[in-house]
Amino acid sequence: HGKVTKVCCIGAGYVGGPTSAVMANKNPDLQVTVVDLSIKRIEAWKSDQLPIYEPGLLDAVKLARDGDGGRKPNLFFSTDVDTAVREAELILVSVNTPTKITGTGAGRASELSYFESAVRTIAEVATTDKIIVEKSTVPCRTAENMREILSAIGHPGVNFEILSNPEFLAEGTAIPDLMEPDRILIGSLNTAAGLSAAAALADVYAAWVPRENIITMNTFSSELAKLAANALLAQRISSINALSAVCEATGADIEEVSYAVGLDTRIGRKMLKASVGFGGSCFKKDVLSLAYISETLHLPEVAAYWRSVVDINEYQKDRFTKRIIQCLFNSLKNKKIAILGFAYKKDTGDTRESAAITVVESLVAEDAKLSIYDPRVEEEQVWSDLKQTHIGLPKMKENVTLCSSVYDACADSHAVIILTEWDDTSSGMPRMDWAHVASVMRRPMFVFDGRNVVDKSKLEDLGFRVECIGKPGSASFRERGSVPSGRKSSQEGSPV
Ligand code: NAD
Ligand code: UDX
Repeated sequence: HGKVTKVCCIGAGYVGGPTSAVMANKNPDLQVTVVDLSIKRIEAWKSDQLPIYEPGLLDAVKLARDGDGGRKPNLFFSTDVDTAVREAELILVSVNTPTKITGTGAGRASELSYFESAVRTIAEVATTDKIIVEKSTVPCRTAENMREILSAIGHPGVNFEILSNPEFLAEGTAIPDLMEPDRILIGSLNTAAGLSAAAALADVYAAWVPRENIITMNTFSSELAKLAANALLAQRISSINALSAVCEATGADIEEVSYAVGLDTRIGRKMLKASVGFGGSCFKKDVLSLAYISETLHLPEVAAYWRSVVDINEYQKDRFTKRIIQCLFNSLKNKKIAILGFAYKKDTGDTRESAAITVVESLVAEDAKLSIYDPRVEEEQVWSDLKQTHIGLPKMKENVTLCSSVYDACADSHAVIILTEWDDTSSGMPRMDWAHVASVMRRPMFVFDGRNVVDKSKLEDLGFRVECIGKPGSASFRERGSVPSGRKSSQEGSPV
């Protein structure tokens, strides 16, 4: 196979931007051009105000884009899709593949129109052979369908090879995940041309990833492995969240249960943290896509199994808001409530599928007055998310205030609700002066911790009533007329 000298990445989003930056960094002789239809996004990638927040990303971009440290610049951003496609030998397609909104499979199947449109562009403009790489997460067999399109509309004599190369990075840790991936997965046809294309892509990764961590297999397996990985990860969270409901009803503590089971090396400790529910652009979409594929393959039991992972997640968010309403004496009308965190996880400004959106929607439906604080999420993004709820923007604007500090959000409130586990000091949340918060809140003071991040006993000593996920709280026991004394939670998860 020939050596790749020019790469084009279609889609300058959460995957395309960081992936290209790391690829360019690690291959100084490779020219990497990232293209997108959005002029605003491309302009932002060219500036120091990148369109997405990701720790370490700006440094990685500047090194390759600006040639910092005496390097020759080799990372470019452009809206001229055609030129970049025409020049490159290898094209990464990392456009969005969200859940379909209308038509067959609406709310479940993946929307592949952006992906197909990118592939059609390649077919139309390419005058030399291309290796096309599926970076986007796509349903199993997508490569096969794209082959048909390429052979129908590509220029005669131009050869296309399609590879599957799914991305496993998580937001908030994208740069370390890309720098040291657990594995690089490449799926190809088992033909001479297919294997040669896979080898060319493997060489690009081998600049920084050990060869034994670059694995190859057939395209269908590779496509399905991506959906399988996300489904299994999401399943762990739904499993622990389902157990958290049992904990709340019995007096067991989910942190202790998770710690105990996680020490079994077959289970492991990662992705076992109970929460208000998982968010992000991938888990729900990919689990539903897997369920939909199963359904279309006439495997209804399999589809139902995976759908239940999403059902438990919806249940978890709903349980959390019901608990808030119940604790606040079933009346939220005009009560001020602080919402700390709007992003779906820490270290990102991304709010796609954030549990915060659902919780805010339910509380505004009760006519609560909410003050939201998040250190990274843009105001414009919060309003855009809230606009898309059933409540609509006018009522949201009436009931919601966006605050620039945790203390502004907490002042005069009946309750504080933690929805993102922000722990960097710039966010102000981990170093919150709870004694000060107590002095500015109304009585009785409640803290609802959707991430199990606060020191429950310390806050209780300050007079707060603290409700955590999967821990005995006052709400579940009040119903039965008994509040368990329980031991102090400071020893939770302790190895002794
Ligand atoms: P994104 O929405 O942030 O970025 C996609 C970009 O593609 C957008 O900027 C959009 O303008 C652009 N685009 C769409 N159609 C185009 C076209 N025809 N030509 C040029 N540009 C076009 O999406 P993302 O979060 O980066 O996800 C991309 C893919 O990667 C999805 O399939 C997703 O499932 C997968 N993925 C995402 C993550 C993640 O953490 N976000 C992780 C692994 C995999
Ligand atoms: C996920 C996958 O981890 C990644 O491999 C894939 O490429 C894209 O989807 P991401 O959604 O960015 O990444 O973040 P992740 O860390 O997986 O968290 C997803 C959601 O689950 C977040 O809302 C997070 O707060 C929640 N979560 C995570 C838990 O509730 N408990 C956990 O133990 C871990």
